[in-house]
Amino acid sequence: MSRDGFGSKLGIIAAAAGSAVGLGNIYRFPCEVGNNGGGAFLAVYLLIVLCLGVPVMLSEFIIGRRAQKNPVGAFKLLKPRSGWPVIGYMGVICAFIIMAFYSTVAGWTLEYIVKAVGNDFQGKELAVIEQEFSDFHNQGWRNVLWQFVFIFLTGFVVFKGVADGIEKYAKILMPLLVIILLVLGVRAVTLPGAREGLSFLFHPDFSKINGSVVISALGQAFFSLSMGMGVLITYGSYIKKDDNLTSTAISVTLADTLIAVLAGVVIFPAAFSFGVQPTAGMGLVFSTLPMIFNQMAGGYFFCIIFFVLLAVAALTSTISLLEVIVAFFVEEWHLSRRWATVLASLGCMALGVFASLSLKSGSGLTIGGMSFFDRLDMVSAKILLPIGALFIVIFVGWIMGKKTFNEEITNEGKLKLSVKGAIYFIIKYLAPIAIAIIFIKGFF
Ligand code: PHE
Repeated sequence: MSRDGFGSKLGIIAAAAGSAVGLGNIYRFPCEVGNNGGGAFLAVYLLIVLCLGVPVMLSEFIIGRRAQKNPVGAFKLLKPRSGWPVIGYMGVICAFIIMAFYSTVAGWTLEYIVKAVGNDFQGKELAVIEQEFSDFHNQGWRNVLWQFVFIFLTGFVVFKGVADGIEKYAKILMPLLVIILLVLGVRAVTLPGAREGLSFLFHPDFSKINGSVVISALGQAFFSLSMGMGVLITYGSYIKKDDNLTSTAISVTLADTLIAVLAGVVIFPAAFSFGVQPTAGMGLVFSTLPMIFNQMAGGYFFCIIFFVLLAVAALTSTISLLEVIVAFFVEEWHLSRRWATVLASLGCMALGVFASLSLKSGSGLTIGGMSFFDRLDMVSAKILLPIGALFIVIFVGWIMGKKTFNEEITNEGKLKLSVKGAIYFIIKYLAPIAIAIIFIKGFF
């Protein structure tokens, strides 16, 4: 059976960047910055992305392209009769977990498109917009409905297959998102009082750095780059033998980081200007943004376009998550692509309902004092992704070894890459040590 693959060089970057760029950048990143003290978090985040982003991403691509399989199948093939496939299974489980809460927020983007089209924010005070946002959560089933619509859309694209599904959507719409963020950024930094927001984001107060800030930054970095759970192994398996893995990893990391910082430059100046607390979490994005549109020429249209693009950015990420599960079902359980997609989508919905409903006040859906939604977020970003990434770099550095590594990153000697020794050194020694230290310090 010949495997579906990405059609062009731009296609791979677009698909991997499509996975990376999403609610993680525009919704989760500002929440984490706000809750972890602003500039100090950003500094740690950038340091982690700089040191670990490319090596971990490359490691996933290498495993995927070498094995040409889903994460479980890849470990089975590359290290037969070993415990390594557990890391693959963990990735598949993690895909369900992330899908469950991510699709909740993705569903909100659809609700907000409808609101934007209905000119629902026009002339409203911040307090009213905030109140309506929390009223919306309290209508639990309305969240669930949008969430299901979103998962259905995801399933539809995934069912249609890799080349003409994922690639086509990502290629055009991602650059558009950057443009609209730039426009919004200009508006946000010229609002009265915007300065304070910029200084919150860019002036690190290093005394705020502690174990919890660092593990949050690590989790956010892996989450935002879609690393540590097999998305990039799966996508790597669709990358052709003559594509350049290193330059792909660099482009994706840069694009993702740029968009996150840009989102910060939009959100924080505006939040400070309107009096939204930096710790407002979800409200930071869903209340602050409508306020910006209220204050700008053409705000009505920009608002619609923005939420449509945000929904698409989320979609290219949920596609990658569902693809991990579907590739696993198809290759390991021998289901047809159709049934694999149906089963995977239903599974995500079943878990997702609890995530959505847990945000309703007094729902009682909590685990250890945290809403189900927050618990899923925390377990995936701060526990499963770091553990996954740790074992992925160990696998490439210690199990696959230098010869295989060199073959993959130079395309069997066809590419010259002067820094390959340095990258290998990072993957083999520095990355595992750094991840392990942060993880242990963050938790104990
Ligand atoms: N990286 C995506 C985002 O930032 C989320 C994601 C995480 C997607 C893990 C796939 C895997 O929105």
